[in-house]
Amino acid sequence: MTRFKIIAGGPLEITGFFRIADSTGRIIAREEPVFLCRCGESKNKPYCDSSHKRNGFSE
Ligand code: FES
Repeated sequence: MTRFKIIAGGPLEITGFFRIADSTGRIIAREEPVFLCRCGESKNKPYCDSSHKRNGFSE
C-alpha cells in the first residue's frame, strides 16, 4: 500500500511501496518515507528542504 499525505503548510509525504523517476525514467527514489516539496522553494527538488518554514507557505 502506498500512502500520500499532505502536510499542512509543508511537503507531500509518501510512504509504502513506490518508485519516483526523473524526466528520463531513471529511478531517483524508492525508499520510504519521502517528502516532496509543494511550496516550490526547495533547493533540493523534488524533495523538501524545509524552505517552506521560511517562506510563509500555508496551503
Ligand atoms: S514544501 Fe518544504 S521546501 Fe517546499
